[in-house]
Amino acid sequence: MIPGQSRAARDILTFYVENGVDAVIGEAPIDRLAGHAPVPPAAEEAGAASAVSRAGESGAGARPAPPTLILSRRTESDPQPLPGAEEAVMAARAAAKTARSLEELRSILETFEGCGLRATAKRLVFADGNPRARVMFVGEAPGKEEDLEGLPFVGPSGQLLNLMLASIGLDRTRAYIANIIPWRPPGNRDPSTHETQICLPFIRRQIELVDPEVLVCLGKPSTAALLGVVDGIRRTRGRWMTYHTGRREIRAMATFHPAYLLRSPLEKRLAWRDMLAIKKALSASPQGGGSGPDEPTG
Ligand code: URA
Repeated sequence: MIPGQSRAARDILTFYVENGVDAVIGEAPIDRLAGHAPVPPAAEEAGAASAVSRAGESGAGARPAPPTLILSRRTESDPQPLPGAEEAVMAARAAAKTARSLEELRSILETFEGCGLRATAKRLVFADGNPRARVMFVGEAPGKEEDLEGLPFVGPSGQLLNLMLASIGLDRTRAYIANIIPWRPPGNRDPSTHETQICLPFIRRQIELVDPEVLVCLGKPSTAALLGVVDGIRRTRGRWMTYHTGRREIRAMATFHPAYLLRSPLEKRLAWRDMLAIKKALSASPQGGGSGPDEPTG
């Protein structure tokens, strides 16, 4: 490779990953500007959402074009699950079931290869907070800062979550925090349905092992995945619902995701009401006196 090219190649790869391109699906270029040029079947089958060419123009007298990568960014509208999708979900279910502790669950996830997000993420983002807490908060998926630190909610929305916790006398020694998806989706794209299905058995097992008294779903994706309610979050938030672990029922509430509150600060007053309801539920429960197992672990 010509000096300077390797750096350019590295830069373009970084650009692809940052922008959510996570698979190479073909070698022939697609000229999206050429009207109705036929799409190579490989790209069509894989539901290519974008095609990126690094070939130069070819024409009379031009050098043969170098090989061209057709890259894909999967989207929610991808019609078909990837090959092996069902197997990956089954493997996730089987693996999650074997975890007898949170430590075991974390190490299973560290080596689980069934979810493609693991390949593009820098770190597994498993959880933060106190595993013996009486309240557990579940967000959607890590962002850039979380990916770098390996901890959930450490970026701007995490700062707001800290304030929300503090508003009802909680902090990370008295709450447990995780996400539906434990790896950052490239470019912060939305996780696909398939990725969510694969990760669901793990977060379900995590909830079962933490066994909180109160479960709080942050935002619509978490609420839809865990509580099966797909209405808009404005309709869903603030209502007590039930989360079934399979062994017992846990009181659950949806509230706004802190990232949404950063964009829509007027909604903070409703989030404040939800936090007060959570505080009330915790103090009304038998362990509400403060000497329960959510005492700071130090
Ligand atoms: N948003 C989430 O849903 N989770 C995080 O950990 C950070 C931002």
